[in-house]
Amino acid sequence: MSEFESNTNTIPPVPVPDSILPIQISDIYADYYHWDNFQVEPKTSYEKVWEVSAWVRDFRSQSEHAFISVYDGSTSQILQVFCEKANLPNFDSLDNLRGATVRVRGVVKKSPAKGQDIEMVCQSIEPIGLVSDKNSIILAKTVQLETLRGHQHLRSRFRTFNYIYKIRSQLLKHIHEFFHSKGFYNLDPNIITTSDCEGAGEVFTISTLNANDIAKSVEANCHARFVEQDEKAVSAGSFTKSDLYSNDFFQKQAFLTVSSQLQLEALCAGLSRVYTLNPSFRAEKSKTKRHLGCFTHLEWEIAFIDINQLMSFSEALVKNVIGKTLKSCEFEYNELNKFVSKGIIDKLNNVVTEPFERISYDKAIELIEENKKAILKKFSKEITIKDIPKWGDDLGSYCERYIGEEIYHKPVFIYNYPKELKSFYMKQNDDGKSVQAVDLVLPHLGELIGSSIREDSYEKLVQRMDEKSMDKSKLEWYLEIRRGGNGITGGAGLGFDRLVNFCTLMDGNIRDVVPFPVSYQECDY
Ligand code: 4AD
Ligand code: MG
Repeated sequence: MSEFESNTNTIPPVPVPDSILPIQISDIYADYYHWDNFQVEPKTSYEKVWEVSAWVRDFRSQSEHAFISVYDGSTSQILQVFCEKANLPNFDSLDNLRGATVRVRGVVKKSPAKGQDIEMVCQSIEPIGLVSDKNSIILAKTVQLETLRGHQHLRSRFRTFNYIYKIRSQLLKHIHEFFHSKGFYNLDPNIITTSDCEGAGEVFTISTLNANDIAKSVEANCHARFVEQDEKAVSAGSFTKSDLYSNDFFQKQAFLTVSSQLQLEALCAGLSRVYTLNPSFRAEKSKTKRHLGCFTHLEWEIAFIDINQLMSFSEALVKNVIGKTLKSCEFEYNELNKFVSKGIIDKLNNVVTEPFERISYDKAIELIEENKKAILKKFSKEITIKDIPKWGDDLGSYCERYIGEEIYHKPVFIYNYPKELKSFYMKQNDDGKSVQAVDLVLPHLGELIGSSIREDSYEKLVQRMDEKSMDKSKLEWYLEIRRGGNGITGGAGLGFDRLVNFCTLMDGNIRDVVPFPVSYQECDY
């Protein structure tokens, strides 16, 4: 590599001309505002001709003039287009433009009206695409989020979804910035895998076999065995999974990953800090507001870390990305705060400023026991006394939520879970019964992060895998990392879609914050 190539500081920036892309409404706003003493200020006077293509959101007309507000997703602010009958030959047909795609041209100036900084005095307005179906949901004034779940391909035409998708995208941007600022490598292990990381068996098998192939495979294998076993009859029942997949693409059974953790651990043992935003896939037959079949899984792995640092890192990450998103999406939050998610700004500010609580699993069980009557009262429709956990049981999302919402009023880390409840890879504590697992539970949401310090002892890991009757041959590569003396690592998985849900609708439905969600009995696109 030449000196020039190796030193990025010496590489001149490659200019990207603005003209390579069509003009957007955000370009007009950016031209109108200017930076003054680190503040964005409007120009004192402004008048400039612009042409832009966009979609019509609102339409109001009187006999001599009409107001058309258009949007294009580049900003959540609309551009108000003022149309005068005297200047527009097609004024009488403007009514057809409700919901349409249009190209508008005119003089943009400071607006005399309240609630908007600029407006366009229209010189021409042409339809690019009209809404041909007058009953189209696009033309509805207000539509419930739930109704739009049946029209996911049209959701981007609605204001609330513009806000949600913008916040989702900004959260991602701030997450990448945060990890890069802390020296992480962003590496995405393959999502096709032969190991079930969480060991819960809730995996999607991927296969190129079709029904004919499967039938042929069964027949061929049975025949082969029949001959092999000296013509002793072999029933189809003795045909195993590995026989079937031996004819498949990988010649063995492969899955979509449930977590990229194990591969991240391998990368971490040598790179120290790694993260991914891979999707994870869970074949959980669950129709709750929080579960998807495929979700965006932010996972990170850090070398030489202890359990307190693991919690501090998760806390810093969550606070940092929420704090930055509150700022970069100020307009969207002011809008959500008014109607869709009243009070969200205060609640998120509370998350950003207040220290998170840290309690052990034992303490959580004590709190649940002390508050069981109140818990049952709060969630009387959802749970009964049978769902109140005792030591050794999963805490359950309602009890977790109660701890966050009613006892501490803030996010809570719960650590040191019974080892029977958690996966094989978690570091065992000296008490012989708990592991160094930490979940982060948020009020209204429940579990956002699952994390742990990883078991670094080869012997203990093998023992745990045997206790759980796991097939070690599939994870031989993982065990080899331990035999390589990799040292301690710890890491976490954060359900990114749950974070977006919390940061937009708080206790809304996860399906409303994911473009084209997939879940149990739901895959429509
Ligand atoms: O707690 P989980 O299962 O942890 C793991 O997968 C670890 N291997 C992560 C790691 O240490 N690298 O999942 C992590 C998070 C959960 O806390 C939850 O927020 C989210 O992933 N999650 C789901 N989100 C949406 N739909 C589902 N079905 C989810 N299952 C888990
Ligand atoms: Mg978990």
